[in-house]
Amino acid sequence: MAKQKELNEKLIEALKKWQKIEDHSVKSTTEIIAKTKNPVIKHIMEIIRQDSAMHKRIQQLIIDNFEKEPISFSPEELGDVWEMVQKHIEVEKDAVELAEECRKNSKNFVVRYLLGYLMTDERKHDIILEQMEDVKSGIYPYA
Ligand SMILES: [Fe+2]
Repeated sequence: MAKQKELNEKLIEALKKWQKIEDHSVKSTTEIIAKTKNPVIKHIMEIIRQDSAMHKRIQQLIIDNFEKEPISFSPEELGDVWEMVQKHIEVEKDAVELAEECRKNSKNFVVRYLLGYLMTDERKHDIILEQMEDVKSGIYPYA
């Protein structure tokens, strides 16, 4: 049991170190945004800045799970919104399809680059929702 406690402490330590990296990321992307006039660079830096801020919040959620109280993730809480989540998964699949179609129809490098970003992000939404579905299956192992 003591071993798990040690592992948890190591995890929290690493997450806090990671949060400092996210702070640094917010700072450096802000500096790059201020220095460049290029809209592509500005937007990409803005994406990374927003992602970094969100990463920090997720890291904090994990830290709080150990330091404050365990994160609740009950079958009831999932069940309450499950139909809505499933409908949303369909919306995300439509978005991925559109992104792929748009990218296929474009030859311009910058447009393809930006559409590539959108496609990756839409796929990411799809993946994290499917993984949530896996968690639900774990909660209901015989479903
Ligand atoms: Fe990050």
